[in-house]
Amino acid sequence: MSPILETMEVFRIVGGARLAGEVRVTGAKNSVLKLMAAALLAEGTTTLREVPDILDVDYMAELLRRLGCDVIRDRENRTVAITVPEMPSHQADYDLVRKLRASINVLGPLLARCGQADVALPGGDNIGSRGLDMHVAGLERLGATVHSEHGFLIARRDERLRGASIWLDFPSVGATENLLMAAVLALGTTVIDNAAREPEIVDICTMLQSMGAQISGVGTSTLEIVGVDILQPTDHTTVPDRLVAGTWAVGAVMTRGDITIHNAVSGHLEIALSKLADAGAQIDLMDNGFRVRCDTRPKAVDVVTLPYPGFPTDLQPHFIAMNSIASGAALVTENLFEARFRFVNEMVRLGADVRTDGHHAMVRGRTSLSGAPVEAADIRAGAGLVLAGLVAEGMTTVYEPHHIDRGYEGFVADLVRLGADVTRVFVDERI
Ligand code: EPU
Repeated sequence: MSPILETMEVFRIVGGARLAGEVRVTGAKNSVLKLMAAALLAEGTTTLREVPDILDVDYMAELLRRLGCDVIRDRENRTVAITVPEMPSHQADYDLVRKLRASINVLGPLLARCGQADVALPGGDNIGSRGLDMHVAGLERLGATVHSEHGFLIARRDERLRGASIWLDFPSVGATENLLMAAVLALGTTVIDNAAREPEIVDICTMLQSMGAQISGVGTSTLEIVGVDILQPTDHTTVPDRLVAGTWAVGAVMTRGDITIHNAVSGHLEIALSKLADAGAQIDLMDNGFRVRCDTRPKAVDVVTLPYPGFPTDLQPHFIAMNSIASGAALVTENLFEARFRFVNEMVRLGADVRTDGHHAMVRGRTSLSGAPVEAADIRAGAGLVLAGLVAEGMTTVYEPHHIDRGYEGFVADLVRLGADVTRVFVDERI
């Protein structure tokens, strides 16, 4: 019997190159997806700028189209124009929601605008259970009824949402965003305490303010929102992607390289950059970005992931990759997503010495890694594996790179421009 062949795309990396040169970062994935959802709050055309050309934006655009919006993307100019009808439809189906967890962010705006929202329960990244209890409890505090049925979260309001005091058990990014988007059109004042403070939250607040929303305490853990009757469409430029910038910064250190990162805000990466400095990097701040270089083997650094302004969980795999080839040993503590250490098994395939115990990973630096086939389970794990492949001896093949495409625009092209030996190829596998 002839073998069954399956064709799949992979990234092939030949290790050993030094990354040097300049890159420009575009708008943040984790902001733009919510800004697209926020457009639903006003009838008319909202234009978003610095929109990255990534798969997740395509999914969100498709979701908005199904809700009745007209979405025009100009990839060259990095804009998306979203024209929202007077009354969008209110159902987000599983086929899209399962591809994009951020689809849950249409819940707040649809409920506020249309009085009803049926959103399939999301799947999303393979990084552990990601609850929605704070989204639900907060919307209920605003007067909505929410229940789940046949795999959908069904939210309704009989009258206008009413402002309320909401205390989040944890500064959840998604819950803060959904509740903000619901509260801006509520009657009266809402206070969200223990709110998330990520730069992406500041970005959505700035956009909502430009639409006419009244929000104070932006960037702090107490947001006060005075509801308004109607919001206007707007024109907004997305905040730069701190996680992409952070990826290049770690790449520079791991490869003993020298990368100037444009359109990046160093203040959004304060802890990560100071950890890189501890590892031995030289960091020079510039007007609209920063330069990271390193000419020695990095030193291992401990990190503990926490909500912003703590160390970002989305850069945890990158630091595990860096610590794997650093001098010394480091303890990495993951407090947000329990399954994010799954990627450690792939690092072990590359020869890394990493042991996990619950929330902790002990990484003992080795002088080298050895190239091997590995699988990207989510965006950030994928990026961490690519960085590891850059310093591994021989060839590393990263399977399932579509995860990386969800969050990094033109990753391979940028890597090649910086001097890496990376190709995207299709391979036939016997199954
Ligand atoms: N959580 C709950 N209940 C809730 C909400 C959250 O238990 O109602 C838990 C989650 O299970 C998780 C933790 O709280 O353990 C953090 O969740 P959060 O809501 O803060 O995160 P998110 O909104 O689901 C966003 C980003 C993530 C990023 C986290 C933390 C988007 C689309 N996603 O997720 O980004 O890791 O904030 O900063 O913005 C990525 O880009 O690769 C990614 C996963």
